[in-house]
This record gives sequence, structure tokens and C-alpha cells, in this order.
Amino acid sequence: MNRPPELHTDRLLLRRWLPEDRAPFARLNADPRVVEFLAVSLAPAESDALADRIEAHFERHGFGLWAVEIPGITPFAGFIGLAIPRFEAHFTPCVEIGWRLAAEHWNRGYATEGAHAALHFGLTTLRCAEIVSFTTVANVRSRRVMEKIGMMRSPADDFDHPALPEGHPLRRHVLYRLKGPEHLPAARRPQP
Ligand SMILES: CC(C)(COP(=O)(O)OP(=O)(O)OC[C@H]1O[C@@H](n2cnc3c(N)ncnc32)[C@H](O)[C@@H]1OP(=O)(O)O)[C@@H](O)C(=O)NCCC(=O)NCCS
Repeated sequence: MNRPPELHTDRLLLRRWLPEDRAPFARLNADPRVVEFLAVSLAPAESDALADRIEAHFERHGFGLWAVEIPGITPFAGFIGLAIPRFEAHFTPCVEIGWRLAAEHWNRGYATEGAHAALHFGLTTLRCAEIVSFTTVANVRSRRVMEKIGMMRSPADDFDHPALPEGHPLRRHVLYRLKGPEHLPAARRPQP
């Protein structure tokens, strides 16, 4: 694939990362509200390393976790997009959809809006047979986004995240799946 496309929604631009995204990304990753369910808070160097891995993923696979710009509001609010998890579990290999936004932009529907666009791109342009999403059981905000974009959870898919040690409070995870564009919410389904 050539340079991966940017995705536009009513309010968002999902784009490749810019050098100036690094500082606000480091601030977001140091915010205890943002990392409450992520098992780690990232020091600036680790935040930069994560941005490097995201860029490398775009180069390798032609898609990734897009930087989120909210025109007129902020040049960088976080990321939303698609990624191939590096760990092994009963549902891997797979393509996952994920999101992380700065707390001052929560609860305005941005994650749901961007995730719709990323999901549509994955199921139609990339022709993924299925896209999954997962999070620790207590992360109700993220689970709500999964539900709002039409993903379905089966309790039989719950799993212990292999990167977290036994007894870690965030270890138990829920898995949501969405198979094929026919399962997108009606408004987002590609027109014949
Ligand atoms: C998860 C996250 C991306 C959601 O972003 P967002 O733009 O606020 O999401 P939306 O506004 O589209 O939807 C949030 C939903 O959660 C609901 N919600 C928010 N706080 C909640 C709470 N404490 N309990 C239950 N639901 C809650 C909102 O009401 C909304 O649902 P609704 O539209 O039915 O009212 C954001 O909270 C975030 O970045 N969290 C930290 C990083 C993270 O956990 N990433 C996911 C890792 S798997």
C-alpha cells in the first residue's frame, strides 16, 4: 500500500504523526486519569518510543493508530486506529481497534466518531474479516465505545493479558469482536 490515507470525520482528522505531537502525547501518557486502566504510566522517553513503534507499524503494515486532530479545537488529542497486537492469545493473530485521548476531550463522542471511521476503513479498504478490541474489565469508558460502534462481547472470550503478572488487578480482560461490514451500525454500512 502507498502512504496510508488520512481519515476525515465530521469533527476529526485522523492523520499520520508529526514531530510536534510528541510533547502533548507525553503529557497525555503522564496523566493518571488516562493511564488508570493501562497498567503503566509512561515517562517521556517511553512515550516517544511508543510513538516510534506506532510510526513503524504504519510503515510496515500500511495502517496504524492515527494521530487525532480536532480542527479548531486542538492539533493533537491522542490516537485512534488499528494495530496488530504483539502478544499471543486465543484470538491472535488479529487486527485490533484502539484509542487513547487526552482527558480534557473525553465524553464528547470523539472516540466513537473516530473509531467508526477506523473500523469502516479496516473492514472495507483493508478487508479484515474481523476486528477485535480488548480492555481490562473495569474500563467502562472504553467498553462503552466498543459497544457504541457495534462490537459484541462473548464472556467465553475473556482472557488474562499475558503481559500482566498473575494477581495484577488489571490482568483480566474482555474481548469484543466485529465481523464484516454487514455488522457495522446501519448509518456506517457501505452503500451498495
Ligand atoms: C476510552 C476513551 C478513548 C473514550 O473517549 P471518549 O471520546 O470520551 O469516548 P466517547 O465520548 O465516544 O464515549 C464515552 C462513553 O463512555 C461513557 N462514560 C464516561 N465515563 C463513564 C463512566 N465513569 N462510567 C460509565 N460510562 C462512562 C460516556 O457517557 C460515553 O457513553 P454514552 O455516549 O453512551 O454516554 C477515553 O476515555 C480514554 O482515552 N481513556 C483512557 C485511555 C484508555 O483507557 N484507552 C482504552 C484502552 S483499551
